[in-house]
Amino acid sequence: MKIIEKIRELTNKDNKTWEQPIARKFFRPMAVEIETGQFLYGLVRAVKPTNAVETGTFEGFSAVNIAQALKDNKKGMLWTIDCQDYGAQKIFDNYKVKAWINPVLGFSPAILKEIVSREDIDFAFLDGEHTGNAVLAELEILHEYFKAGSYITGHDYIRYDEIKQAVDNFVSKHQGEYEKTIITTFAGIFVLRKIH
Ligand SMILES: C[S@@+](CC[C@H](N)C(=O)[O-])C[C@H]1O[C@@H](n2cnc3c(N)ncnc32)[C@H](O)[C@@H]1O
Repeated sequence: MKIIEKIRELTNKDNKTWEQPIARKFFRPMAVEIETGQFLYGLVRAVKPTNAVETGTFEGFSAVNIAQALKDNKKGMLWTIDCQDYGAQKIFDNYKVKAWINPVLGFSPAILKEIVSREDIDFAFLDGEHTGNAVLAELEILHEYFKAGSYITGHDYIRYDEIKQAVDNFVSKHQGEYEKTIITTFAGIFVLRKIH
């Protein structure tokens, strides 16, 4: 995938500044960082899920990376959910991954439940509603339907305290059932692997 990088500077609550590369072809600065897209690509290539689901399609940057990995794996589809249409379909077409993506317009967690209860999915990336309640509700739905060996990943574990709290509370509640890894980028990525 050819991406032209552009830099924007972010400041966090401790006034720490950080230069975040963003993808020029994805117009608004809400997409995950380029490195996070590459991380998702690498992780999906490595673990080779049966199928994947994402909350928070936006313009499709994280979805393109996940779908490209599924395409290269020669296995799996991505369901990606957003409550608004930001034109991601055109991006999916441009990046030649349209056939690997089912975009769904609707509100998570309700629509997430509908999808994971119906499809054989074992990889999730959460980047939709950035509140503790929403993330916790999504995690509990995935817990209900995901089998052992599945991965639940998500963005903004470090940037949003509410997300950190939700993930940590979820892992404590289901003690011994998940391995938790935090990737300490500026925004922070969480990776949960269901072990039971
Ligand atoms: C940070 S952006 C996602 C960025 C995207 N992952 C990327 O890399 O380009 C969050 C998206 O979640 C969507 N969203 C927020 N709350 C939602 C909800 N309850 N259900 C579905 N989508 C939601 C927003 O419309 C927005 O497009």
